[in-house]
Amino acid sequence: MEELKKAFDAIASRYDGQRRFIIPQMEEFYEAAVWAADWPGNNPAILDIGAGTGLLSALLLQKYPMGNFTLVDISENMLDIARARFDGNPHVHFFVADYSRDEIPGKYDLVCSALSIHHLEHADKQRLFQRIYSILKSGGIFVNADQAEAQSSWLSRKNLLYWDSFVAKHPFPEDEIRAVIKRRDTLDKNAPLFDQVSWLSDAGFRGVDIVYKNRIFCVFIGRKE
Ligand SMILES: C[S@@+](CC[C@H](N)C(=O)[O-])C[C@H]1O[C@@H](n2cnc3c(N)ncnc32)[C@H](O)[C@@H]1O
Repeated sequence: MEELKKAFDAIASRYDGQRRFIIPQMEEFYEAAVWAADWPGNNPAILDIGAGTGLLSALLLQKYPMGNFTLVDISENMLDIARARFDGNPHVHFFVADYSRDEIPGKYDLVCSALSIHHLEHADKQRLFQRIYSILKSGGIFVNADQAEAQSSWLSRKNLLYWDSFVAKHPFPEDEIRAVIKRRDTLDKNAPLFDQVSWLSDAGFRGVDIVYKNRIFCVFIGRKE
């Protein structure tokens, strides 16, 4: 986890500027997550797991301006950017922690995450899904917008080629591309999507489903009844 924290601390100030060159269909991907994050009231308690600089929370805040947000991340530098983004908003709270190990206080109506949980070992992903289930209130939804492995090595390779050709199309400095690929090779631990959705069901979630998929970029959800 120390290596991951260091990597995100180091990239924090350049992170937001790079995203659109790294995530294919970035808007559609995040929009699907926000669309799926539904709550009948106007001030849900929302937990953003691995919130980073707050990209996902910023979009959720447009949908739920009265929402009560908790952003958790292990990288202080990433969260500092989020602090600046939400400066003056008394309903946005920040929590520096390793969400795979540390206790996450509170109960939530919506637990959302973007591009973070794929950094955990698979057993830790499964444990986290169980913990998310336990901190969700009844009727709450977990939305995970994340990377997932294909079911076959043939498609995995094809997905990586798709991703590389997307990155190559953009005016992105060579050394930054190398850094992105290094992060991907050392820090990403993508699990197959079908495994992940069954881990959600095993954790007790109902209505488990996939609401978006573009190669490795997926948004999948589960509801606590
Ligand atoms: C690729 S960034 C995504 C940030 C943000 N959610 C977004 O969509 O832009 C991954 C974030 O997850 C955080 N992260 C990864 N594993 C973590 C863990 N175990 N505990 C807390 N934060 C973690 C990293 O520090 C980083 O800020």
